[in-house]
Amino acid sequence: MADVQYIQSLLTQHADFPKKGIVFLDIFPLLRDPFAFETLITHFMHHITADTIFKSPTKKIDIVVGLDARGFLFGPIIALRLGAAFVPVRKRGKLPGVCVQASYEKEYGTDVFEMQAGAIAPGQTVIVVDDLIATGGSASAAGELVTKQGGQLLEYLFIIELTFLKGTEKLNAQSYSIVQSDD
Ligand code: ADE
Repeated sequence: MADVQYIQSLLTQHADFPKKGIVFLDIFPLLRDPFAFETLITHFMHHITADTIFKSPTKKIDIVVGLDARGFLFGPIIALRLGAAFVPVRKRGKLPGVCVQASYEKEYGTDVFEMQAGAIAPGQTVIVVDDLIATGGSASAAGELVTKQGGQLLEYLFIIELTFLKGTEKLNAQSYSIVQSDD
């Protein structure tokens, strides 16, 4: 697909960032090109309207959940185009008011994700978006927050999946990624 190749061609790799041994995939060049950014959003919208929406009993998506921090860059745009709400998931201590929490394993120790209590009403249909899935720890914690509030998690959407890390096996819903990287 020409749009996938276009998106892929703008991703850049940075060896040994943020630490030795990690090849960091950067999505920011994609966002610097307005035509590529539009292509990205249109690609997601096409997938959602041709596929994801049919998994919803109401044929509607009520909420787009975006993960801290790069999920905040395009999650709200998808939400607006769908006429859905946007709900952020953030690291512990960043959101005001009563929050629900889920912990996940990181390379060293654990981290805690939070969502504001009541941000999702029971039965609402939800998709979760982030730029990249690596080990799947943070995405699965975000999914746990959705189901804790009674939301119906339809799908995860990512720009990039690092397939060799098998992160999608940790998820409690199906996932879609535009670009798959196996190295
Ligand atoms: N998050 C976790 N692993 C990553 C990688 N290789 N590139 C960009 N973001 C990441």
